[in-house]
Amino acid sequence: MLTTIANLHKHIDEEVKMGVWMYNRRSSGKIQFLQLRDGSGTVQGVLVKNQVDASIWDEAKSLTQESSLYVWGKVRKDDRAPSGFELDVTNIEVIHIAEEYPIAKKEHGVDFLLDHRHLWIRSERQRAILKIRAEIIRSIQSFLDSDGFSLVDPPVLTPSSCEGTTNLFHTKYFDEDAYLTQSGQLYMEAAAMALGRVYSFGPTFRAEKSKTRRHLIEFWMIEPEMAFVDHEGNLEVQEKLVTHVVQSVLANCKLELKVLGRDISKLENIKAPFPRITYDEAVERLQKAGVEFTWGDDFGAPHETLLAEQFDRPVFITEYPTNIKAFYMKPNPNRPEVVLCADMIAPEGYGEIIGGSQRIDDPELLEKRFKEHDLSAQDYAWYLDLRKYGSVPHSGFGLGLERTVAWICGLEHVRETIPFPRMLNRMYP
Ligand code: 4AD
Ligand code: MG
Repeated sequence: MLTTIANLHKHIDEEVKMGVWMYNRRSSGKIQFLQLRDGSGTVQGVLVKNQVDASIWDEAKSLTQESSLYVWGKVRKDDRAPSGFELDVTNIEVIHIAEEYPIAKKEHGVDFLLDHRHLWIRSERQRAILKIRAEIIRSIQSFLDSDGFSLVDPPVLTPSSCEGTTNLFHTKYFDEDAYLTQSGQLYMEAAAMALGRVYSFGPTFRAEKSKTRRHLIEFWMIEPEMAFVDHEGNLEVQEKLVTHVVQSVLANCKLELKVLGRDISKLENIKAPFPRITYDEAVERLQKAGVEFTWGDDFGAPHETLLAEQFDRPVFITEYPTNIKAFYMKPNPNRPEVVLCADMIAPEGYGEIIGGSQRIDDPELLEKRFKEHDLSAQDYAWYLDLRKYGSVPHSGFGLGLERTVAWICGLEHVRETIPFPRMLNRMYP
């Protein structure tokens, strides 16, 4: 039976067998130190020349970086070792001697690493990021599942847009035109009228010509949608969810955060409630900081960063001008020039991680918006139906997974947050 490195703590002073890759080897003449990994963790194997057969000693010497092998040995507790254990190797069986590995220990440029992304993900740092990504997904789902939400899957091929027509990914659906989904929201609104509280988790696509550290062409979104929940109730779910996610990563990914060198103190602050400022107040804050900004314009990355720096946790910016937001957002009844929406801006310059709003529930206003936004009433007839048959106040939001991973991991760019990034000018591997 094979053991894993993550399970070594259950086998102290016992003999184990594991399937591993060797990522580094040092030798002092009489002792070989094999750095081994199996995906679940890393451990150092120690081979002493006069304690193993000469053939085993020689086979170990022939191991190149990334060679695969079975290893037998006795587990020894060692508090100095990063994993807490070492393996006194008694036997090895080579599975495959790797060719010269392209990702050597020297520094490589980003393009080279992205070209070798299929191998790059084996590195300790990339593994840590992907583990944290998995923990973030797990904690989001466990939070929502235990808060009365049902997972619902919207389609990926869609006949119309959700977030404006400028960055749609066009494709053919036999003889018809189709688009890869930009957001599952409109379908989730239908689902909320059937199941009450729902969320989707899936890939979304935006043909954005933006080459920034926050933009991907293909990214994953979690989109909760709730019947009978208003703007304020929407914000409460968001801040509780994000608090839960950050605290789960802190509790369950200590080693990974350490590998990344993440400043944990910045994450420990992240507890609900989060501050809320209106768009109006945000504009005032920018102007006070000497930035030229006109009411009615949208914030760019530098504006978001400047605003976020004034807080030690994520901040909601609420009630943006109606004109710069999506067609489905409900206007503030006392002030129709702004909508009941909020963007959640992460600290440390990571920008918007959530966009959400209360939705229009009045069929007449929605039809008016179709006209204003040049959307075909026929394409959206089904969406209008949701307002004809038992319309209710409802709200929802979309959390961008990659930007959330980038923030929690403290990464410079979203390209490292997803196993195989799709970016402007890159679709390989
Ligand atoms: O603000 P957005 O466009 O909102 C929507 O799509 C709504 N329909 C969601 C909803 O209410 N159900 O996108 C939501 C989030 C953003 O806050 C951001 O985190 C992420 O998706 N996002 C991107 N992430 C990476 N690359 C891109 N190109 C992104 N565009 C948006
Ligand atoms: Mg947005």
